[in-house]
Amino acid sequence: MEQQLPMPTQWHEKYKVGIAEIDQQHMDLLRHVETIHAMLAHPKLTKTSIRATMREFAEHVKFHFKFEEDLMFYFNFNDYSTHKETHKFLLMQLKKLVEENGDQVSGARRIANFLQSWLVGHISVDDFVYAKQFNQIAGEEYQLFLEHRQGRRDSEGRPATLDDV
Ligand SMILES: [Fe+2]
Ligand SMILES: [Fe+2]
Repeated sequence: MEQQLPMPTQWHEKYKVGIAEIDQQHMDLLRHVETIHAMLAHPKLTKTSIRATMREFAEHVKFHFKFEEDLMFYFNFNDYSTHKETHKFLLMQLKKLVEENGDQVSGARRIANFLQSWLVGHISVDDFVYAKQFNQIAGEEYQLFLEHRQGRRDSEGRPATLDDV
């Protein structure tokens, strides 16, 4: 039986967009922020391990963005390009912050807090826009999308076409 993870404290039912995989990914990202804060409380951290954790977090964010972009592209949603640009801009900011300050406890905390507020704001506004379109049109075709996407995953379970930002 699958282990039930605790809900992230920043998660709220009102953030649910109604697409199971997306809601799960959003919850996982907020939980990841909490894991980072817990890790940063450890007294014997090296700069290398802090930066590695923050880079891993950035990859996690990137994976989620790509999933959403694939979904929007597949269903030909109106705001695909704008939404993709918003993701791209955030990832550029995130990469820059991680490379500049992501090897120190204080810097990593600031980045995690920044990401947390950004995510909550983005989910509540931008993600709800495509979710509304999805709920109007997708239905059973969503299963086809998931199967289509599954076929393109590499051995790590990530999409085979992750673009570099
Ligand atoms: Fe999202
Ligand atoms: Fe998004």
